[in-house]
Amino acid sequence: MTVHSKVLAPELNRRYPVVVRAEGVWIEDSAGRRYLDAMSGGSLAASLGHGRRDLVEAARRQAERLSYVHNERLTNPAQERLARELVAVAPEGFARVRFVTGGAEANELALRLARSYHVERGEPQRWQVISPAQAYHGPTLQTLALTGRPGLQRPFDPYLPSHLHIPPSTQRFDPSGEAALAALDDALAEAGAENVAAFFCEPVSAAALPAYSPPPRFWEGLAERREEHGFLVCFDEIVTGMGRTGSWFAADETPLLPDIVATAKGLGAGYAAIGAVLCRQHVYDAVAEGSRRLTLGHTWDGAPLSCAVGVAVLDALRSEGLVEHVRERGARLREELEEALAGIEIVREVRGRGFLLGVEYADPRDGESFLPPELGVARRIDDAALESDLVTLSTQPTHDGYAGDQSLFAPPFTSSDRELAEMVSRFAVAVHRVAGEVEDELAAASAPIEAGEPR
Ligand SMILES: Cc1ncc(COP(=O)(O)O)c(C=O)c1O
Repeated sequence: MTVHSKVLAPELNRRYPVVVRAEGVWIEDSAGRRYLDAMSGGSLAASLGHGRRDLVEAARRQAERLSYVHNERLTNPAQERLARELVAVAPEGFARVRFVTGGAEANELALRLARSYHVERGEPQRWQVISPAQAYHGPTLQTLALTGRPGLQRPFDPYLPSHLHIPPSTQRFDPSGEAALAALDDALAEAGAENVAAFFCEPVSAAALPAYSPPPRFWEGLAERREEHGFLVCFDEIVTGMGRTGSWFAADETPLLPDIVATAKGLGAGYAAIGAVLCRQHVYDAVAEGSRRLTLGHTWDGAPLSCAVGVAVLDALRSEGLVEHVRERGARLREELEEALAGIEIVREVRGRGFLLGVEYADPRDGESFLPPELGVARRIDDAALESDLVTLSTQPTHDGYAGDQSLFAPPFTSSDRELAEMVSRFAVAVHRVAGEVEDELAAASAPIEAGEPR
């Protein structure tokens, strides 16, 4: 059932199902219709599934004792404990943490920290950031500038700082990563390498290029340039942190150790709005041996209520062995998805690791080109999936040229084998259906016009 709503909705013409409850991987709307959640709450946040009593209980206990206190002049045990536990599972060398309330805020803080690092070390001219063009880092004006997609930036571009972008080194454009490195060199030359504060990227992409990661040569080349030019590398692990790719952080599997990591979604697992920025010792030392100040924060940063949920999320991930489970089960899930989609002509590639999988579509006429954007394939796949009671998230091309239609497939880590099989099967039905329609439409569009037929 859908409602006329007083909410200023993202799409004013769309009618939204009203979700009233959820349990495990099942979401129920106000008409009693039940959907399978193949997208962890729709945005990859609900990584442990819905309705978990342990997380609700942790929030209740904390709220009864101490729900809120601001962290500028006060701290609290939940924040301190979460910081210790997060450092313990972070990649080697990550020594300090600061909490925020979401992904874009974490990315903004990562950027402020990178800038502070250089200023504290006596290089105040370093401000410019370089990042891959086909990314998503959030809807705030700074993160939108990092995102580098004109299709998303319009009409806010007058407010955006002019960061520099390089093309993604995808299989389609740059399988070796050398072209991206050459573009990075051009960007360093354009900005003046001495003015560059950071390279900012998702180690494994989410919605912008589902489950794509640059090839090893790109990471090696990036490390060489960081060494030579002294900029920092910041990872946006808003999605990939907290086990999504089968390790605590995607940085654990990347051939380059970043200097700063931002994470969010899976840290609160959909039970609390919380994000975090972690940094290595040398970044912390720059502030500790300099002004000793990193001011400016948000009202809810490090609040006991959300930190207590974060502690309970880490407990669940550890005690249920979910990170290892995601690594092992994810490899099979990808094979199952590949098998289910085999033979569908618009499916070009299934990729990814852990429970972060992506499907890329191509024009069936050559199996290579992007599908014509006006066909709206990504939107149609999500609509067809929803009709089959499955929640998915697909990305429309934004006319920027680096990506076409794609889908994410990212279920909660706690999904059972039967539930995963059902998600895969419903998804394949949706893709099959849209592929059939699209092939017919493309055939009709390219059929020769018979004499006498209306044009
Ligand atoms: C990779 C990535 N970075 C940043 C963000 C922004 O996070 P938030 O929506 O919590 O601000 C998102 C959100 O989808 C994301 O996928």
